[in-house]
Amino acid sequence: MPSRYVMSIDQGTSSTRSILFDQAGQLVSFAQLEHSQHYPRPGWIEHDASEIWHNVSRTIQQALAEVDATPGDLAAVGIANQRETVVVWDRRTGIPVGPALVWQDLRTEQLIADLSARSDAAVVAARSGLPLTSYFSAPRLRWILDADPGLRARAEAGQVLAGTMETWLIWNLTGGPDGGVHVTEPTNASRTLLFNIHTLTWDEDLLAFFGIPVAMLPEVRPSMQVYGRARGPLAGVPIAAALGDQQSSLVGQTCFDAGQAKCTFGTGSFVLLNTGPELIVSQHGMLSTIAYQVEGQPPVYALEGPMASTGSLVQWLRDGLGLIQTVGEIETLAASVPDNGGCHVAPAFYGMFAPRWWPDARGVIAGLTNYVTKAHLARAVLEATGWQTREVIDAMNTDAHHPITELRTDGGMTSNNLLMQLVADAIDLPVVRPTVRETVALGAAYAAGLTVGYWADLQVLRRNWHRAATWLPAADRPHRDSEFNTWRSAVDLTFEWTA
Ligand code: G3P
Repeated sequence: MPSRYVMSIDQGTSSTRSILFDQAGQLVSFAQLEHSQHYPRPGWIEHDASEIWHNVSRTIQQALAEVDATPGDLAAVGIANQRETVVVWDRRTGIPVGPALVWQDLRTEQLIADLSARSDAAVVAARSGLPLTSYFSAPRLRWILDADPGLRARAEAGQVLAGTMETWLIWNLTGGPDGGVHVTEPTNASRTLLFNIHTLTWDEDLLAFFGIPVAMLPEVRPSMQVYGRARGPLAGVPIAAALGDQQSSLVGQTCFDAGQAKCTFGTGSFVLLNTGPELIVSQHGMLSTIAYQVEGQPPVYALEGPMASTGSLVQWLRDGLGLIQTVGEIETLAASVPDNGGCHVAPAFYGMFAPRWWPDARGVIAGLTNYVTKAHLARAVLEATGWQTREVIDAMNTDAHHPITELRTDGGMTSNNLLMQLVADAIDLPVVRPTVRETVALGAAYAAGLTVGYWADLQVLRRNWHRAATWLPAADRPHRDSEFNTWRSAVDLTFEWTA
């Protein structure tokens, strides 16, 4: 009997989901568990990798049980994961040597300042495609090695292993201490600062620059390949793909052609533009990254614009200010006024990411008068996401040779219709939401299903993609541009207001 489903494991920053998809790309079963966020000091954010692995096992079982499926019903499993978060563990016991350090963690800022001052620092951007900031993995790995005097020698001897979350999960799924496969793939490797995105290998000069022993790093395989067969609750199922979660949503949105772009709007938001076989080096603050690599083929590249604070601003209105009770309420509140009342929010809770890369910047609310109400502030919060998206799209259109003609969207914030309209107005392009919103998970399922022949080719997947809603730009252009420029003046203030 042909396999009925493909499973996707979406291991995100706040939760883990195991989802079953059928041949039409429809979600048939879903299980989700949140994991703890640990904040031991200001700016430090940690996860317990063992808790995450435990949650993966439990959600796999729940997702199977929901539709009364067994591993025999699955053609393959694919993994999408929070990127840049790193964990180091003992090869013999499988126990992490400490917490996983999360991509938002800022503890390495001094290390970054020291490394940036070196005369050879330019090698980092040239080889990795990334700016030297604390967002990426290598400084965190270095911090872990420096924090434990005996660890470096054990790493050099291959007694402890390192990985981003897909590596940790594949190792555990394939047996852990009992023969687990220690692998990664280019979309995740390309976020470490250690990976040469031209040659698709760990780069000796980058390893030396950051002081990371190659013996602790996983082998880099294509994004779409059978890495091994699972044991435990998925016994025998081929683990057939892994993708960083943002690249995974690019695949889930079937943005397979150069010039196609998507944005996942969540706590932070991430625009990715497929640039095809061409590695474009941005002159405007975008990241060059790998979109995916099919086994036996050259990689597909992407430009990426990460925005650090988008949904987190809405959460702050709810949790920090108490202006709304639920995240969904911001739409009604913001829609109760026709404009921002002169108020602009420059979001820099964790510094400004693309296109500026100002790690020390801190947020500013500008234009306050006693006319401004909480409704104006709510509107300005939503507009801030629109303007950030515009900056990223403008930069990509200047860097790339394929102008973006529409933006496909997914993520929690896309249920906010006003936000989607504000984004369309800001970027002056149609904004489109597909019927299946779980595009991060869907992308990993597609990648795994393609690898094992569950789906024949990209064309089949393109036919699975259906438009649920479209927002067309409707703003008065001169007024919009003047508002954008005022917002940018507010953002400039965040640079003065450093941590
Ligand atoms: O680069 C960080 C990104 O991969 C995190 O995504 O959805 O887990 O917050 P998410």
